[in-house]
Amino acid sequence: MTRYEELAGEITRQIRAGVLRPGERIPSVRQACAAQGVSPGTVQQAYQLLEDRGLIQTRPRSGYYVSATWKSAAAAASTPAEPEVSRPPRASTSVAVSDLVFEILESVKSESVVPLGSAFIHPSAFPLAKLARFMGTATRALAPRRMVADLPPGNPELRRALARRYLAAGVSADPDDILITHGGMEALNLCLQAVARPGDTIAIEAPAFYAALQAIERLGMKALALPTHPREGVDLQALKEALNKQRIAACWFMTSFSNPLGSLMPEESRRELVAMLAAREVPLIVDDVYEELYFGKTRPRPAKSFDTEGTVLHCSSFSKCLAPGYRVGWALAGRWAQQVRRLKMMSTLATAIPPQAALADYLKQGGYEHHLRGLRSALQAQQGRMIAAIAAHFPAGTRVTRPQGGYFLWVELPGKADALALHARAAQKNISVAPGPIFSPQRRYAHCVRLNYGQPFTPQVEAAVATLGRLAKSLL
Ligand SMILES: Cc1ncc(COP(=O)(O)O)c(C=O)c1O
Repeated sequence: MTRYEELAGEITRQIRAGVLRPGERIPSVRQACAAQGVSPGTVQQAYQLLEDRGLIQTRPRSGYYVSATWKSAAAAASTPAEPEVSRPPRASTSVAVSDLVFEILESVKSESVVPLGSAFIHPSAFPLAKLARFMGTATRALAPRRMVADLPPGNPELRRALARRYLAAGVSADPDDILITHGGMEALNLCLQAVARPGDTIAIEAPAFYAALQAIERLGMKALALPTHPREGVDLQALKEALNKQRIAACWFMTSFSNPLGSLMPEESRRELVAMLAAREVPLIVDDVYEELYFGKTRPRPAKSFDTEGTVLHCSSFSKCLAPGYRVGWALAGRWAQQVRRLKMMSTLATAIPPQAALADYLKQGGYEHHLRGLRSALQAQQGRMIAAIAAHFPAGTRVTRPQGGYFLWVELPGKADALALHARAAQKNISVAPGPIFSPQRRYAHCVRLNYGQPFTPQVEAAVATLGRLAKSLL
């Protein structure tokens, strides 16, 4: 089969699975070239074939669309349903997930593994060669005094560039309040340490990012997991009830493309969330490391933009969208900015200075927006293909999320399929998955897995999804 026939076959599967619905636009030739790593001619031939088969239509000066005559009902029927809102226990609990998390993380390190359980995008998606040039230039040009001048809060050019990006997103940030950290994880840990003490209860999503659970575990705090909607994030009514019932020292939420659910809290809910917490003086730590990876037209307005009282601590990093391994993140910690800076100086003292300088230069002249546009459209296309493959290979009754950004799918297996067993069997076939229990203080979600679609959707990845589907069926 030629490459264009393969591509046409893949799009056909997505249309059949209802991932692409009648009347919906399909990726432009340019987007498809970037996502698939093929030439414009290959994409045009594939689209011509689909048009000949009546599956898509061209609209002059607008693009390619799924044909309106395609049977939507049949297509929708074969699309996996979405998971429902989570219902965690209503009591706070101590956390001890680290042993399980380390065991799982260790098992996904090998290069021969298809990394569907990874938390990273494939490195080929990043402008690493260009970044290396900026790194070389920045290091050579670094005035010796910068080695001291750029100690916390960090490189002034980088903080100014971040402040400009905040401004564009509707947040007025003083560069002096931005603290550059060792990745987002240090920013989050410092913020948690600044706002709460051992024994305090921290409200989190259910399921929640395992490193948030580990931070709570490390600091001897308790977690209160809240019902969370796979599309819209934390249930604000449940949060309100919890706040009325018990003392919550802080909330730690992901408002954009949460890990693992991929939920995106609507703008109105963000506003309500910030106001509700500010009225009670409860700090809100926002883990926003996926904020740039949106599939919509514009970046979701950050919760921080509604913060009039300084009670939102916004944390993010370049690890997921530009420079994995550079370990550069930041915190804009509102009222706690000074305290967070001091905690940084008392623990790791400073963030490595050359990567900060390189990123500052890259943000000025490296073509960041262009890179982000390409990355977003590649991720969106990969998501469609992963969902189509799950629809084709996983057992009937499997549920899958439809995130509007990021690169994770949360997959709920039917019946009593055991995700830890799936993880173990998949590992024997050199495939990793992130099993549900690592995202819960009570090791819930025993029948769920998080899959990463941040890898190019190669035949190897498709085969891995098919193998997982077979293994999942065998566990039923
Ligand atoms: C939700 C979430 N927050 C934070 C991080 C850590 O970010 P960084 O690598 O910048 O420390 C990750 C990485 O996996 C993540 O998924």
